Amino acid sequence: MSDISFQQEVAKRRTFAIISHPDAGKTTITEKLILLGQLIQVAGTVKGKKNDRAATSDWMSLEKERGISVTSSVMQFPYKGRVVNLLDTPGHEDFSEDTYRTLTAVDSALMIIDGAKGVEDRTIKLMNVCRLRDTPILGFVNKMDRDIRDPIELLDEVESVLGIAAAPINWPIGMGRDFKGVYNMYTDTIHVFQPGKGSVVAEDIRIEGLESDAARALLDDEYESFLEEIELVRGASHFFDREAYLAGKQTPVFFGTALSNFGVREMLDGFVEWSPEPLDRPTDSREVSAKEETFSGFVFKIQANMDPKHRDRIAFMRICSGTYTKGMKMRHVRLGKDVKIVDAVSFLAGDRELVEEAVSGDIIGLHNHGTIQIGDTFSSGESFKFTGIPHFAPELFRRIRLKDPMKAKQLQKGLQQLSEEGSTQVFMPQRNSDLVVGAVGNLQFEVVSYRLKDEYKVEAVYEPVNVYTARWVECDDAKKFDEFKRKCAENLAIDGGGHLTYLAPTRVNLALTEERYPEVRFRSTREH
Ligand code: G4P
Repeated sequence: MSDISFQQEVAKRRTFAIISHPDAGKTTITEKLILLGQLIQVAGTVKGKKNDRAATSDWMSLEKERGISVTSSVMQFPYKGRVVNLLDTPGHEDFSEDTYRTLTAVDSALMIIDGAKGVEDRTIKLMNVCRLRDTPILGFVNKMDRDIRDPIELLDEVESVLGIAAAPINWPIGMGRDFKGVYNMYTDTIHVFQPGKGSVVAEDIRIEGLESDAARALLDDEYESFLEEIELVRGASHFFDREAYLAGKQTPVFFGTALSNFGVREMLDGFVEWSPEPLDRPTDSREVSAKEETFSGFVFKIQANMDPKHRDRIAFMRICSGTYTKGMKMRHVRLGKDVKIVDAVSFLAGDRELVEEAVSGDIIGLHNHGTIQIGDTFSSGESFKFTGIPHFAPELFRRIRLKDPMKAKQLQKGLQQLSEEGSTQVFMPQRNSDLVVGAVGNLQFEVVSYRLKDEYKVEAVYEPVNVYTARWVECDDAKKFDEFKRKCAENLAIDGGGHLTYLAPTRVNLALTEERYPEVRFRSTREH
């Protein structure tokens, strides 16, 4: 690739994830986005019907729909001269760690709000994660085909609860049964709603000018009151400011209905136009520009068994600079080794296919046979490490015990691999041969035992364990650290990544130990 075409390719990339509360419409909108990218003819094939989702975890239902889960982890599609990369995030909050890490790999986010419910818990949490990096957020108020809450009130809620200024781009004309379309306040265009066109890309029926006869005819009795409403909205809301959006201070908001595939196109048009190109990324030694020609990237997610025929694990890498070309050598920085990658996969067209070339902003999948961990940096030889990919101290702990003691090896291996993927965290206490697993949410435990059985043929049971929290420990003073290790051996463990960890039985114990060993740092997050 020449310099110029490389720069142009990078400038086309738009890499984002969706943040929303479960049921707001993430899956539905994803289908429509892909439909708009014209990859599939009839929407509805991204994910099967979620008939028993209350009873199963995301992972297990993904497991059932395995063929489809491949496509839903990362999707790449072309749209209006851009290349859009959409990274999926698990819906269930028990898998929040995975979601947080995925958010480190994107350049912007799309926030979906259920118009009937407004700003919900999980959106607030994810928004807080986005705020750590000032990630630009574009908003979509969904389900206009239903009776939703007053749109003005909804935007007020976005501003007050999420602490971000809202700038409506279009405004709904009616709602529910009376939903007639949306009015774009910047282009003075009405896009007319046509129900029943959810599974196709319907023709965009427009009326130019709110003053036009066609607009009067459409709005009929409501015409005057709609004019007043627009007047009010213009006066009370923020004017769209792209700089403020890029700085994460303002969210442009679109209204529509994902189910009817209406308003999604306008939103996507705005998104590809305004959202950022691949951003520069910090490392422990310098900032890496997306436009640099030398290759670099980091792994933010590992997923197992994406293809039942292969039984392998895929490490998802965000390319931060340069170009991946088939067969190239890259430096696995943590291991200090050069590796030749011939079979990276891309996610174009929702298929898992071998990629010949990918650039900054793209996500590629590396086959992982146990040497790649979340957070690993790959480079062209430089030994920097991308920072800001967090690992959170688990909040729930269980001792895991085998039903068949002969299978200890498989159990160890299974837990090791699941912890490298980020599915759970495993701790090996120094004082005995227990295995303690830690999780952020309860469902993670279920997934771990399900997968141990399914993939590693190990039946394990959980038992309560007296651990309140875990802290990764470090100390610059070797002598003091030795003393600490000797005196606190009872509570020390090694985690799946080989890091020394203090397992505190109670909050008080942790506080006292911290006080007793001021030189030792007790960390509740660890960078990968
Ligand atoms: P999620 O991935 O964010 O959890 O949400 P999902 O897209 O699965 O949507 C949740 C429910 O909301 C689904 O209904 C979906 O059909 C519905 N929905 C999404 N967008 C709209 C919209 O614009 N208008 C209306 N009226 N409904 C919408 P469900 O009955 O729970 O599931 P399903 O059986 O239809 O799959």
